[in-house]
Amino acid sequence: SAAEKAGYDYFMLKEIAEQPKAVADTLLGRIDASGRLTLDEVRIDAHALREIDKIVIVACGTAFHAGMIAKYAIEHWTRIPCETELASEFRYRDPILDPRTLVVAISQSGETMDTLMALRHAREQGSKVLAICNTNGSTIPRESDAVLYTHAGPEVAVASTKAFLTQLVACYLVALYLGQVRGTKWGDEVSSVVRELSDIAKQVDQVLETMEPVRELARSLKDKNTVLFLGRHVGYPVALEGALKLKELAYMHAEGFAAGELKHGPIALVEDDLPVVVVVPSPRGRSVLHDKIVSNIQEIRARGARTIVIAEEGDETVVPYADHLIRIPATPTLLQPLVATVPLQVFACELATARGNEVDQPRNLAKSVTVE
Ligand code: G6P
Repeated sequence: SAAEKAGYDYFMLKEIAEQPKAVADTLLGRIDASGRLTLDEVRIDAHALREIDKIVIVACGTAFHAGMIAKYAIEHWTRIPCETELASEFRYRDPILDPRTLVVAISQSGETMDTLMALRHAREQGSKVLAICNTNGSTIPRESDAVLYTHAGPEVAVASTKAFLTQLVACYLVALYLGQVRGTKWGDEVSSVVRELSDIAKQVDQVLETMEPVRELARSLKDKNTVLFLGRHVGYPVALEGALKLKELAYMHAEGFAAGELKHGPIALVEDDLPVVVVVPSPRGRSVLHDKIVSNIQEIRARGARTIVIAEEGDETVVPYADHLIRIPATPTLLQPLVATVPLQVFACELATARGNEVDQPRNLAKSVTVE
């Protein structure tokens, strides 16, 4: 009903707008005043956590993209080897699992059959399973050794938005917590990341306040057939998520690529006026990646692409090559997906509306896929 949508035309718009609160709620009570993490829910004892020698993340759809981003954070902050795999692929390839493997299952609904089957398989091999889930008491957390709930509140729109942002927050918390428990890399960088994580809800809010040009741009592209998305490092899964949203909602051909792969195929797709969204890493931090992606933008633009550039506030190097520039606040490199994904959600939602599509209930899709 209209009341449930709190004045928004669609649940998706409401859920996009709720993201700052969802992010803040997911952090609430989990970071103490001294910047230490208190994740009492992770009922896997500290000894077992110190023994872990491998982490495997399993998930589907948007949750899988959160898992891809988590891999960068976990390996960087904990130095534990981490792989992220589609739950539907995992079980059928006889994965190597043992009691020192921590399996992290990410699911908004907690009912996705492929993810559930993957975690059952992992537990049969003696691995510990930590669920990251948004739905209290659902099957996946019930069958896991421990659960870290995301506090996004109920997500109704089929295309996931606020659940995704809170999954990212939960993944960062797990990564930082493992670092804290194991005593690895718990230095200045990590303390400053914890501080910045506490501020991130405000930055998401800031992004939401500047979305009108993105909506205008989306409307102007409603008759296009294809949109490509490029990213690198944590911007790569963000590109995949931007493309997934556009497929789900606008029913357009949309593909995300790792920018470094451009010359190995995708650049052949570039033709005159093809919209290409590029997620630019911060020029601070891993600045090598920043410079490489700026060259990629030049390369595709020279071949006629219409470049839609998502770049940090104050990054002036991209200005000459951006046909459209979308600004996001400066964050630590690993946290950028929390702000960079938001314009892509708004973009897909507006494009779908402009094409006359049903935003909350896209054709052929279900909120939760409970069959294999
Ligand atoms: C379906 C939904 C997606 C979701 C995926 C995984 O495909 O349409 O939005 O990302 O399932 O769902 P889960 O509940 O496991 O996160």
